[in-house]
Amino acid sequence: MQNEAPAAQIKVPQVTVLDAGGQYCHLIARKIRDLGVFAEVRPSETAASDLAGRKGLIISGGPNSVYDTGSPTVDPAIFRTNQPVLGICYGQQLMAHLLGGVVQKGDNGEYGPATLELNGGPDTPLFAGIRDHQQIWMNHRDLVVELPPGFSNIGATGTCAVAAMAAPSRRLYSVQFHPEVVHTTEGKRILANFVFDICGCVKDWDPRHRVPLVEDQIRRTAGNRNVFFFVSGGVDSTVAFTLCLRALGAERVRGIYVDTGLMREGETEFVNRLFDALGAGTVTIESAADQFLTPLRAVCDPEQKRRIIGEEFVRLQERIIESRHLMDGHWILGQGTIYPDTIESGGTEKAAIIKTHHNRVAGIQQLIAAQRIIEPLSDFYKDEVREIGRELGIAEDVLERHPFPGPGLAIRCLCAEHDEPVRSTPDGFLIPVRSVGVQGDERSYKAVLALDRFPAIEARLEDEATALVNRTRGVNRVVARVAGHAPLAGMRSSSSVLSVERLNRLRRADSIVRRISHESGFDKTVWQFPVVLIPVGAGERPDSVVLRPVHSVDGMTAQSVGMGEQLLRRMAAELMQLDCVCAVFYDVTHKPPGTIEWE
Ligand code: XMP
Repeated sequence: MQNEAPAAQIKVPQVTVLDAGGQYCHLIARKIRDLGVFAEVRPSETAASDLAGRKGLIISGGPNSVYDTGSPTVDPAIFRTNQPVLGICYGQQLMAHLLGGVVQKGDNGEYGPATLELNGGPDTPLFAGIRDHQQIWMNHRDLVVELPPGFSNIGATGTCAVAAMAAPSRRLYSVQFHPEVVHTTEGKRILANFVFDICGCVKDWDPRHRVPLVEDQIRRTAGNRNVFFFVSGGVDSTVAFTLCLRALGAERVRGIYVDTGLMREGETEFVNRLFDALGAGTVTIESAADQFLTPLRAVCDPEQKRRIIGEEFVRLQERIIESRHLMDGHWILGQGTIYPDTIESGGTEKAAIIKTHHNRVAGIQQLIAAQRIIEPLSDFYKDEVREIGRELGIAEDVLERHPFPGPGLAIRCLCAEHDEPVRSTPDGFLIPVRSVGVQGDERSYKAVLALDRFPAIEARLEDEATALVNRTRGVNRVVARVAGHAPLAGMRSSSSVLSVERLNRLRRADSIVRRISHESGFDKTVWQFPVVLIPVGAGERPDSVVLRPVHSVDGMTAQSVGMGEQLLRRMAAELMQLDCVCAVFYDVTHKPPGTIEWE
C-alpha cells in the first residue's frame, strides 16, 4: 500500500466543523460527507482568516459551559464574514454568548429524546420540508435563555424554550439538539438544508473516499508506533484490523485471538483461516479457557458474569502486553469499537447498567486516557463498517456474520441456584428462570411465560406476547413450545452452573441451528439468531433450548421473527436428539420488553 495522499487532502473542504470538544464532532463531518459534500474538522479556535473560502461553518457540541475558564471558543470574526454558521448544542450556547444573548448554567440537564415544536420553523430555510412535532435528541446541561439581538426563536421543546434560533439575514443558525445522531428523525434533512440551501454547497464527495481517509488517520494516530489488536473474528475487529494492515503494512500490525472457552463451535478454526487469508502470521491464538471458566463456574447473575469476563479479559490482555513487550512505547492497542458502542457505554448511567461494553472496561479506559488506543471505526455504524469491509475485499461470509456478544456463550447459558417446578397459570406456564428485559427505561430481570402452542402455525403470537407481558406481573418474555420430551407441567428448573458439559451442549445446539439456518438461507433474513440453553427439563434431560431469531437495525430495539413450519420442525427434531435436551422453545417477544439476549 503506497502512502500517497488521499484524494481528500488535496481538495478544499466546503464545510469546516469547528471542534468544541464534543463526542459527536467527527460524526457531524461524516454526516456532511455522507450527503456528498466534503467536510473537515478543525480546532474550534481556528482563525477566521484560515477558514476563508469555506461555504459554511459548523460549531460542534462540547462538554463545557461557556462560563468555564478555558472553555473552547471560536474566533468571533467568523460571524462577520457572511459565511453561514450553524451552532450545534454547545455551539448554539457559544453563539448566543458571543453575540450578546444569555446562557443559563443548568444543574440537571436534558438527555435523550424530546419533541421539537417549530415556531414558524417551516419558513426557516433550516427547517424547510420538516413537519412540526419532530423527534430530536438532546444532550445538554446549559440553556440559552435570552436570544442575541437580531435572532429569532425558531424551535422549542417542553423543557427547552430555545431549542433553535436564527438570524437568517446574517446567515447564522443554531440548534440545541443534535441533528447528526440517528435519534433526531429529520437530522439528515436539517443538515442537508444547511449545506445545500443555506451554504450553497455542491456535491463533490464520494463516500468511498472514506477508506483512504481512515487509513490516513490511522497513520497519523500511530505515528511510528506499531498496532496490536485483540481480534474476535467478528466484522468490526476484522475490518479495523484490515484497515490497519493496509495503512501500516503487515510488519507493524499484530493480532491476538483469545479463546475464552466461551466461543461457538468451530470458531477458533474459522478465525485461524480468516486471518491466514488476510495476512499470514499476523494473528496468534491464545487459549485461556481455564482462566475464564473457573471464576464463572458458580455465577448466575448476568452482570456479574460480564464483570468477571471483562476483568479476566483485562488481566489476560495485561499479561500478554507485558510478556510480549507491547507496553514499551512502540505499540498501541487497536480496537474495532464502532460508533454505537461508544454511545452505549458513554451514555446514561442506566445504559451502562443494562450492558457494560467490554471495549470500555477500566483497563482500556486507561489506555484511552494515555492516548494509546486506535479505533479506526469509532465514527461508523454497522452497515457502514460492512460497506468498508466490502471495499477492502473482505469475504462476504465474514461481513455478513451476525453480531456475537463479547461475553460469548456465558450469557446464553443460563444457570439456576435452586430446583423449582414449572407452574401453570391461566395465561400459560411460568418457567422458573429469570431473563433480562427492558421495560420503560428500566432493566427488568423476571420469569418467562411459556405457551403450549406451536409457533409457526399460530398467527400473531408476537402481538399476544406483548399483551401478556403488559398484563402479567413478574414476566418480561414469552416463549412458545416447539417440541418436548415431557409435558410443560412436568418440567422443572434444576440447580446448575456454567459447566464445560453444559457449554458443550449449547455449542452443539447452536451449531445445529446455524447449519440448518445457513443451508435454508434463513440466516440471511435475520439480524441475529441467539440460541440459549436454560436449566429447565425433566428427569435425565435437565436442559432446554430456546431459539431467538430477531430483526433489528442497531440492536437497540428488535422484533421477534417467525420461521416456516417445515424448517422449524426440522431444526427441533435434530435438537431433540441431543443428550440431556428436554424441550425446544421459540422466543416470540419483541425488544422491548425482552432484550435480544436472555441475559
Ligand atoms: P440486548 O441483549 O441488550 O443486545 O438486547 C443488544 C445487542 O448487544 C449484544 N450484546 C452484547 N455485546 N457485550 C457485547 O459485546 C455484551 O455484554 C453484550 N450484551 C448484549 C447482543 O448480542 C445484541 O446484538
